[in-house]
Amino acid sequence: MTTTVARIFETMEWGPAPEASAPALEWIQSHGGAFGLFIGGRWVPATDSFETINPATRAVLARVAQAGVNDVDAAVRAARAALPAWSALSGHARARHLYALARTIQKHARLLAVLESLDNGKSIRETRDLDIPLVARHFYHHAGWAQLLESEFAGYGPVGVVGQIIPWNFPLLMLAWKIAPALAAGNTVVLKPAEFTPLTALCFAELAAHTGLPPGVLNVITGDGRPGAALVEHADVDKIAFTGSTEVGRIIRRKTAGTGKRLTLELGGKSPFIVFEDADQDSVVEGVVDAIWFNQGQVCCAGSRLLVQEGVAERLVQKLRTRMEKLRVGPSLDKAIDMGAIVAPVQLERIRGLVEQGVTEGATMWQPSWACPTDGYFYPPTLFTGVSPAATIAQVEIFGPVLVTMTFRTPAEAVALANNTPYGLAASVWTENINLALDVAPKLKAGVVWVNSTNLFDAASGFGGYRESGFGREGGREGMWAYIKPKWDEGRGTRDEGVSIAGSATESTRPTSPVHLPPIDRTPKLFIGGRQVRPDQGYTRRIVAPDGRPVGEVGEGNRKDLRDAVEAAHQAADWGRGAGHTRAQILYYIAENLSARAPEFAARIVAQTGVDESEARREVDGAIARLFSYGAWADKYDGAVHTVPIRGVTLAMNEPIGVVGIAAPERDPLLGLASLAAPAIAVGNTVVLLPSSAHPLSATDFYSVLETSDLPAGVVNIVTGDKEALAKLLAEHLDVDAMWFCGSAAGGKAVEDASAGNMKQTWLPGSRDWFDARQAEGREFLRHATQVKNIWIPYGE
Ligand code: NAI
Repeated sequence: MTTTVARIFETMEWGPAPEASAPALEWIQSHGGAFGLFIGGRWVPATDSFETINPATRAVLARVAQAGVNDVDAAVRAARAALPAWSALSGHARARHLYALARTIQKHARLLAVLESLDNGKSIRETRDLDIPLVARHFYHHAGWAQLLESEFAGYGPVGVVGQIIPWNFPLLMLAWKIAPALAAGNTVVLKPAEFTPLTALCFAELAAHTGLPPGVLNVITGDGRPGAALVEHADVDKIAFTGSTEVGRIIRRKTAGTGKRLTLELGGKSPFIVFEDADQDSVVEGVVDAIWFNQGQVCCAGSRLLVQEGVAERLVQKLRTRMEKLRVGPSLDKAIDMGAIVAPVQLERIRGLVEQGVTEGATMWQPSWACPTDGYFYPPTLFTGVSPAATIAQVEIFGPVLVTMTFRTPAEAVALANNTPYGLAASVWTENINLALDVAPKLKAGVVWVNSTNLFDAASGFGGYRESGFGREGGREGMWAYIKPKWDEGRGTRDEGVSIAGSATESTRPTSPVHLPPIDRTPKLFIGGRQVRPDQGYTRRIVAPDGRPVGEVGEGNRKDLRDAVEAAHQAADWGRGAGHTRAQILYYIAENLSARAPEFAARIVAQTGVDESEARREVDGAIARLFSYGAWADKYDGAVHTVPIRGVTLAMNEPIGVVGIAAPERDPLLGLASLAAPAIAVGNTVVLLPSSAHPLSATDFYSVLETSDLPAGVVNIVTGDKEALAKLLAEHLDVDAMWFCGSAAGGKAVEDASAGNMKQTWLPGSRDWFDARQAEGREFLRHATQVKNIWIPYGE
């Protein structure tokens, strides 16, 4: 049949519109089709190499170096050598470098977009219109943070040499998310791109060198997981930032445990896409296309679970099928396709396997009638209905163009379903009712919530997960914290508290005091769920003064007691939903009641630690002041409204993390525990507190203050005993969301290692002067006590 304009209007068919591959292939050829490693500002050959292919055609694009352990070491040494000069530059000077990088990306946008599409298989439309512009935007935005660093992050400096490991789904964008904040803050970088998609990182390294980025500031080592692992284990790396699978994230958590390396993890997800019955259905359909078929569904925050209110489910699924029938899958350089190729055969097999499993487990699978091209690794858009919430395909990250649908009746059911995976990366909420949207958004366990929109990203808004989706944010002010540390913290490698337990030199050399000791007339109990309870096994431990005199006994808590305490802490979750003002009032009240009993608390400190009375009094006064500080903070640790380039707002909300386990410092038994428990509860967490093993009586005295201060039951639970052993047990508990640990280096390692189970956030405050407010209170503590949720709310009809 002849093609006429009238017929085209009728069928809306169109042919291929290929983008030229020439600029990218010419660049590859300018390197002879083979690449070394980019270390210290120059290309360094490696002994091994491998091929990188175009997954849309299976054609070999180039040979790339497989870095060995020595290469990783050379890259780290280059980064270390470059650090002093780079970090000593003024913020303005670094801003100019970042600005130059942003400009060079814009100038080479076409080359980078084509190269990315060839290496990854994703559509040129996406790389051209989304990936590369966002990459430039990240460098511009972070040029701004470099400029403002000295004023906006006063008292902070870079972390040092940063190892960054990125995945293959957004190769250059993930590079930008990692490199831009790191360089802005004055760190130097060793970056390892994913083995399937190394080319744009290599191209970027070369472009960066041409813009005058000093040698060694950015080093790129290519290869599979092995150089990644070597980078993680390298002793001279100060921080690891990783994006990829939760499985590898867990390995990295364990490998870095106890090393003092900082860590941020951006891991997998199984993000819900929630549709209420009043949502605009046509917008929803386009939203779903964007949520799960964008980048072939290889998106960590893909809306891979469609949760639809029952009354509209059938109609929506029908509309979706109609739309899916019209999607086009094809070669990545065709400007008229919706979906490109899957990155590699192994990923294609993984998708196929999971889809088969979904069918075997009884769900109904639907795919469009047309067939995918066969000359590359393609997979069609796929829709599952009749999926049970516990099915493998409803729980596991498929990382492909596969959508599973489930239905719900009430908003509460939607929230329960949405939160029913171990992940917590992102969520979308679709409704025309803003009250409903803003009621649901805070209840979702997700680092990003999009209202009537999906997959919106911007450098000004932090991105990152809750729960097993990892911790740390990338982008925005919140993302900068991952790459800076307080200047007073410099040189403190270890997170050891610097005090060994019971009878340590520090403690026992303190002068003993002549103050009259309290009689041994009672054994304080554990404090769980607002009640004083006997330890499960009924054992007690003796507490002695530095001179060996007995000062009392406390209960010996065990695993069962901790379980009860965690349960009680969960039941008190309403604490975080209430007003900051109420929490402030209660913190002030605790301070007031402590103040009324100050002499008694001072005497107890003297008896346990042997410090003199004035020192003990100073500690009690310090604890009172600290409680006041967090009473002040409770209604002032505001979130932000980020300025993102959409017609709308992004609300960055500081949310409590949940149940926080706190192993208090050994030294300064009252001030230490107040310094940690108060910020945690000020922002709405509930706490399981493990007091100093050597001096726990200040904590057990303290619960009688809590009992008289209107603190709801379960907000603070206190379990005495062997603090380090208890802390490890608490870190293993899957219902504890964060763990703060003061104690030995070995204890800290055990806590970090055990925390990999559910990816709980850990913090080792290390040895610090608890009397010095600059080190012992304020925003650093509040930051650890919260996680940022960014809620995107577009305007307009
Ligand atoms: P991966 O997590 O193995 O790879 C990510 C990066 O980590 C790559 O650069 C890789 O070379 C490196 N790596 C691998 N093992 C390492 C180790 N032991 N130590 C240090 N670095 C290591 O992800 P992969 O194998 O590419 O994909 C497997 C699955 O992971 C996907 O099917 C998908 O479900 C998930 N994934 C999730 C991503 C996300 O952004 N959430 C990104 C990539 C994959």
